[in-house]
Amino acid sequence: MAESDKLFAGSIPKFYDTLMVPLIFEAYAAGMAELVAACAPGAVLETAAGSGVVTRALAPILGAGARYVVTDLNQAMLDHAAARQGFDSRIEWRQADALALPFEDASFDVVCCQFGAMFFPDRVAGYAEARRVLRPGGRFVFSVWDRIEENAFADEVTQAVAAVFARDPPRFLARTPHGYHDVALIREELGRAGFAEIEIETRAEVSRAPSARDAASAYCQGTPLRNEIEARNAAGLEEATMAATGALARRFGSGPIEGRIRAHVIAATP
Ligand SMILES: C[S@@+](CC[C@H](N)C(=O)[O-])C[C@H]1O[C@@H](n2cnc3c(N)ncnc32)[C@H](O)[C@@H]1O
Repeated sequence: MAESDKLFAGSIPKFYDTLMVPLIFEAYAAGMAELVAACAPGAVLETAAGSGVVTRALAPILGAGARYVVTDLNQAMLDHAAARQGFDSRIEWRQADALALPFEDASFDVVCCQFGAMFFPDRVAGYAEARRVLRPGGRFVFSVWDRIEENAFADEVTQAVAAVFARDPPRFLARTPHGYHDVALIREELGRAGFAEIEIETRAEVSRAPSARDAASAYCQGTPLRNEIEARNAAGLEEATMAATGALARRFGSGPIEGRIRAHVIAATP
């Protein structure tokens, strides 16, 4: 993983929250929230919470007395999440690396993490941290994207942007968000981190955007793909976004577009 892959800062949080979240993250947030709430937890830790799409889905269905600690590596993402959430006395916002959690052992009933594990530089260490802070009988619930070929817009955008920078194609989407989809490897790494019972469901959804331009802007400007494009050509963002727009429109049509997305949803207990 490149260092810039985990940098969700600058203009990225705003584009991420307004364009990426409705495009692909909202579809999975309600299911994640239901999985967590079904455990009736007294204390929940969310890692890699981003701009708070799961927090917004989970807070209304969590118990009135529950403690809900919401964390992310990038403070800018958390600021966005907290501003949208508004005050809730059960929620604590805290900047935290999922690989070095600033919490006591055995302090949560559930740890949840939607589409964050792909960014962990060492997944076994990240999973072991989740296990460390879980109480006996606690659950770790998380999700990762399936391979890029099963996620139509991401695949198309990656190919279109590669054509703009043919000598050194930006591969963020394939390398990181869609680079950790092997369920046998996920099971093996969870086992090494001390998880014994592991359930994995592969779930398909539909991604919808008002236009090809919206979807192209979401991927090119609302994710760390932006960092990769700007590193190659500081003025190249618009050219790359236009190339992605054209490719999406040719494949999915002008006007509102839709394409398939697919992810693995995992629940693990020590
Ligand atoms: C694709 S976003 C997912 C955000 C949110 N869970 C959602 O579903 O919209 C990935 C998030 O992981 C965060 N992240 C990256 N590395 C991390 C780490 N080591 N610990 C905690 N969060 C991390 C990023 O800041 C980013 O907000």
